[in-house]
Amino acid sequence: MIKISPSILSCDYSKIGEELLRMENSGADWIHFDVMDGHFVPNITIGVPIVKSLREVSDIFFDVHLMISHPLKFVDAFAKAGADLITFHLESESDVRQTVDAIKKAGCKAAVSIKPKTPASEVFEYLDILDMILVMSVEPGFGGQSFMADMMPKVREIRDECNARGIEMDIQVDGGIDDKNISDAARAGANIFVSGNTIFSANDSAQMISLLKKNAQQAYVG
Ligand code: DX5
Ligand code: ZN
Repeated sequence: MIKISPSILSCDYSKIGEELLRMENSGADWIHFDVMDGHFVPNITIGVPIVKSLREVSDIFFDVHLMISHPLKFVDAFAKAGADLITFHLESESDVRQTVDAIKKAGCKAAVSIKPKTPASEVFEYLDILDMILVMSVEPGFGGQSFMADMMPKVREIRDECNARGIEMDIQVDGGIDDKNISDAARAGANIFVSGNTIFSANDSAQMISLLKKNAQQAYVG
């Protein structure tokens, strides 16, 4: 199923609760949280207390993207704060199987993300234990960067491998997505789309989310 996950990273932080509700009322399927530690990536953003406070204002699905060096250490805290899905990076310091186990034990869905320079084939050995793969279409660290179209063959490689093995997988693309390039990502086999700037800077966020969804639905090739 096609889903749009607006990245709260691009919101107005002086009214973050209202911004979350604005996205929910605009038809967002999930809300994407970009957690950065200033070590794995050169930026610091939101952490556990923000996720926890926002959980109190909404029941929408929380898609938590950890761009941190030691994700395993923080799985329980984010799960308790209200994460529904936790994504961590294959390039982090934590053991992949141990981290996936911890995420599932904490009652969340588990996903692994790969940075632009990491080949798609590196996730193949984990396909049977994951709920989602996130293929980054920018270098993680900042919102508002340009979409790297040359990441789409990696999405196709992962989708084809899942199909060949009969695995139903969510494939997410994150970074620089707009109403045009979302079609390329969907054609490559992605079905979950993160979007920060495009949605938050739109005059009408509901109209933008529905346009993104429509374009993805029309182009999607599973
Ligand atoms: C980048 C983040 C993305 C990003 C998406 O490190 O993981 O989620 O904020 O925002 P846009 O759509 O503005 O690139
Ligand atoms: Zn993200």
